[in-house]
Amino acid sequence: MKSELVPFALALIVALAPPTLADAPIPAWAYPVNPPGALPPDDGTPLSVPGSDQRFTMAQLRDLTSVPDWHPDDHPPMPPSVARSARKGVYACGFCHLPNGLGRPENSSLAGLPVDYIVKQVDAFRSGARISAEPRSLPIDIMVGVAQGATDAEVREAAEYFASLPTRPWIRVVETDVVPATHVAGWMLVASEPAATEPIGERVIEMPEDLERTERRDSRSGFVAYVPTGSIARGEAIVSTGGGRTTACGVCHGADLRGLGPVPALAGRSPSYLARQLHDMRRGLRGGGWAVLMQPVVAGLSDGDIVDIVAYAASRAP
Ligand code: HEC
Ligand code: HEC
Repeated sequence: MKSELVPFALALIVALAPPTLADAPIPAWAYPVNPPGALPPDDGTPLSVPGSDQRFTMAQLRDLTSVPDWHPDDHPPMPPSVARSARKGVYACGFCHLPNGLGRPENSSLAGLPVDYIVKQVDAFRSGARISAEPRSLPIDIMVGVAQGATDAEVREAAEYFASLPTRPWIRVVETDVVPATHVAGWMLVASEPAATEPIGERVIEMPEDLERTERRDSRSGFVAYVPTGSIARGEAIVSTGGGRTTACGVCHGADLRGLGPVPALAGRSPSYLARQLHDMRRGLRGGGWAVLMQPVVAGLSDGDIVDIVAYAASRAP
């Protein structure tokens, strides 16, 4: 082939290439986007949650600069970077990730993750190496702003705190064919009213066990994740053997998926969070850290495989 034809031929090959898995639309259940609209105003009522003498108003519960700590006896004292904003834009880590580090579906659990892993991920958000497939996600935007504004010392202090926290069951995984109809509020799925049901399809529906307690950021009230019937067994087969299209996960993440050395745990973590990571990696959007090790793992996974894998991982004991 004449050399000037080579770029043309290459362009043609690219144009004619079949769409790859990485081009598929991202699943809305994993990346819920809040509808536009203002939150109802706070009437100033002091609010409570079971088992706590603390009282916070809704305005205090929405203030990202300081953590509403309902259960201070449940965790060691929070260092300053976890408990409060250091400066404008550097919000308190514990506000989003919770004082016990167990997190919420729109962010991530951090409890028990390796210190170096946490530090490297904040670096990756800061440098722009780790970005999300959903550019409208405000929580992720704020996470990036925090990473850019926090000092290395603040990040390390927070990383050491979260790494020291125990993990515990936080998400109840239930196989089902039918789920409550949901809509997005507070960047997560919540049951619609009046209550209705719909087929689960190829989705995971993760929602608060108790919406009011989650709205109040009660760190003792967890989540339920509905997953398709049969998905846990299918996920187990992929995770333990690779299913002919990927590598078994245990060699790096530990046989029980509870993490190995610097490699993060997957067991018992939010299935929506885990699915976002697999989709972001499959699209080549999550770089930094050791994300390159995950590239061959995700390349051949279908959307359905991701549902099955995260159903299984979330159902394991953390
Ligand atoms: C506005 C809420 C918010 C605040 C405040 C916040 N984060 Fe995050 N963080 C997020 C979100 C959202 C994600 C998940 C991004 C995704 O889904 O890909 C995240 C993800 C992370 C991850 C990746 C976890 C993993 O398993 O890879 C780390 C590490 C992290 N945050 C650390 C911190 C630290 C340290 C602080 C405080 C200095 C902090 N975050 C403050 C929202 C927040
Ligand atoms: C060769 C080692 C290796 C194998 C095999 C592997 N992983 Fe990973 N995985 C990693 C590393 C290392 C990271 C951390 C990446 C980083 O630093 O950004 C990771 C990160 C992840 C994350 C993101 C976790 C987080 O906290 O954000 C998910 C989800 C994940 N892996 C799932 C899987 C699944 C599912 C399999 C099997 C199908 C698998 N991995 C197989 C090494 C591996």
